[in-house]
Amino acid sequence: MIEFEKARGHLEELGLSNAVVYLDALLEKAQRENRTYIDFLNDLLEAEVAERQKRNMEVRTKLARLPYRKTLAEFDFSFQPSIDEKLVKELATMAFIYRTENVILLGPPGVGKTHLAIGLAIEALSQGISVYFSSLTRLIDDLRKAYDENRLEKRMRIYIRPKLLIIDEVGYLPLDNKGANLFFQLISARYERGSIILTSNKGFGEWGELMGDPVLASAVLDRLLHHAHTINIRGNSYRLKDRLRTGFYASPHSNV
Ligand SMILES: Nc1ncnc2c1ncn2[C@@H]1O[C@H](COP(=O)(O)OP(=O)(O)O)[C@@H](O)[C@H]1O
Ligand SMILES: [Mg+2]
Repeated sequence: MIEFEKARGHLEELGLSNAVVYLDALLEKAQRENRTYIDFLNDLLEAEVAERQKRNMEVRTKLARLPYRKTLAEFDFSFQPSIDEKLVKELATMAFIYRTENVILLGPPGVGKTHLAIGLAIEALSQGISVYFSSLTRLIDDLRKAYDENRLEKRMRIYIRPKLLIIDEVGYLPLDNKGANLFFQLISARYERGSIILTSNKGFGEWGELMGDPVLASAVLDRLLHHAHTINIRGNSYRLKDRLRTGFYASPHSNV
């Protein structure tokens, strides 16, 4: 038993706290099942690695600041036939992140833009990819504050460092001159360096008005769309689905 305590002490010293927890049970299992030395060693190390991966995923998920949790599996593609399901599945492999491509989700409110962005984010997190999620409004307010306090460069890193940045709800509120400039700076900084998933209810043609400056808007779009997959969702709001079915609410855009 003194040998057991010694091994325990070493594991503790090395900070392998989950291996410590499982040591006793795994030793017993090794004896009972006649496991080889290498099998036992792997059992013990796997207990530690699994726990660490779980913890890392939890930390990364917290840091990502997702507004809610919705997976791609929960997305009903049959309700939204304008979405190329195969493309979404391909994006879920995360190959686009290694190619630093962007994903632009366009469409009216309620068609699942944010849901798809979050679903892809969860997939990215589970593959060990760092993610940060923000609405455009919160992002610009945050950068504006940092600019006023003379710490823009440092604050910008929050949005540059993650492998995947999600910018949600571009278009609901117009940007003033300073806001548009900060937006341009961010898009330039990430250009060919890190992927962006962006959602918007506005077509690209309306971005000039949105940013209050057509030249700046085309400079942003130029970079954003250089390597990008655009998913244009033309359908009904999922939020109104049940009301549409019962005829309580008639969509102005369809004959449902
Ligand atoms: N095709 C879908 N299948 C399942 N849930 C959906 C679908 N489309 C939208 N939803 C749900 O409807 C709500 C609104 O979707 P959301 O992604 O926020 O819309 P958008 O960002 O386009 O305004 C969310 O709760 C979302 O999970
Ligand atoms: Mg949304």
